Amino acid sequence: MSDLFLRAARGENTAVAPVWCMRQAGRYLPEYRALRAQHDFWTLCRTPELAAEVTLQPLRRFEMDAAILFADIMTPLPALGVDIDFRPGPVVAEPIRTLAQVEGLTTPDAKDIAPFTMEAIQRIRAATDTPLIGFGGAPFTLACYLVEGKGSKDYGAWRTMMRAEPETAERLLERLADLTIAYLLEQVASGAQAVQLFDSWAGLLSETQYRRFALPANTRILKALEACGVPRIYIAVDAWHLMPALAELPVEVLSVDWRVPLDRVRATQPAGRCLQGNLDPTALFAPRNVLLEEVDAVLRAGKDGAHIFNLGHGILPGADPEALGAVVRRVRETDRHALKAKGEA
Ligand code: CP3
Repeated sequence: MSDLFLRAARGENTAVAPVWCMRQAGRYLPEYRALRAQHDFWTLCRTPELAAEVTLQPLRRFEMDAAILFADIMTPLPALGVDIDFRPGPVVAEPIRTLAQVEGLTTPDAKDIAPFTMEAIQRIRAATDTPLIGFGGAPFTLACYLVEGKGSKDYGAWRTMMRAEPETAERLLERLADLTIAYLLEQVASGAQAVQLFDSWAGLLSETQYRRFALPANTRILKALEACGVPRIYIAVDAWHLMPALAELPVEVLSVDWRVPLDRVRATQPAGRCLQGNLDPTALFAPRNVLLEEVDAVLRAGKDGAHIFNLGHGILPGADPEALGAVVRRVRETDRHALKAKGEA
């Protein structure tokens, strides 16, 4: 078993970068599509045997240094009394638009939030030594879906609520933070060895808005996990402008998208913080030599500190699994300590 992922996540500048891939269990894999043809998405998430099987699928194909639990950021939300469907993205039957709806949300016992997920975690731990990453959605991003009712480019209804009824927005964020704390603590108690908080839409916020509507809830969640001792990973997409605020988050690992090279990101973050990323997911569609050059460029930009190799966002459904295999091999065979920055002799 490799502890490379956990060592790098704790800040060690390892000679080889550990590698895993966001959405490594998913539609680009024919074996996922085969299972998915027999079961709807909620059934895959809510049946421990199936969720464990899907989690393990990418590990059979690739030498990954971490597994990520198969679930969704929306998994804990039905426990609030909200009805959610996937078509294929999340669709909320009755979007949350009023204070009365927020106050009407259920407060579930921790054990009742997603017992099937906790059983899946136990099964995965029994089946593999590869470190398992648990995860949840950050309150701001969960609220994007809950208030809007579905995926959107700009989340106008939610961002209007933040301005027109900021107290309602803050109350909703608090409820989501409480739920997420209970859910993630259960995941760690069940065996998750690291935790990633996905804030996919935080890049929509200005730094001022982030400090009011995202930083407090994210900080509260991450602090609540501190005593567990598992590495905490946070990702916001398209968030270069937020780096000063993200530097204040209590995390071991900051996951970053492909838009800014890792050396420039590193300069904005506290010393010793591990960076995760940041190959452009569309690079997997490029000719193989171009893809590998981009992998090398990411490794070079990441070489001056702890680095977990990953994509800058989830792998796209049309990606060729062989391209991901080539990326994993390239990362594994690269000695980071022998790397020279581009331009050096
Ligand atoms: O392999 C893994 O990374 C673990 C599983 C995982 C899924 N969703 C499975 C899934 C994870 C970590 C997520 C997180 C997630 N879900 C995020 C945050 C990460 C990100 O991409 O920004 C978000 C925003 C969601 C919400 C969501 N769920 C969307 C937008 C969609 C549809 C489109 C898409 O990107 O796949 C889903 C459905 C979903 N979640 C699928 C999978 C494998 C596809 C469902 C299917 O099989 O039809």
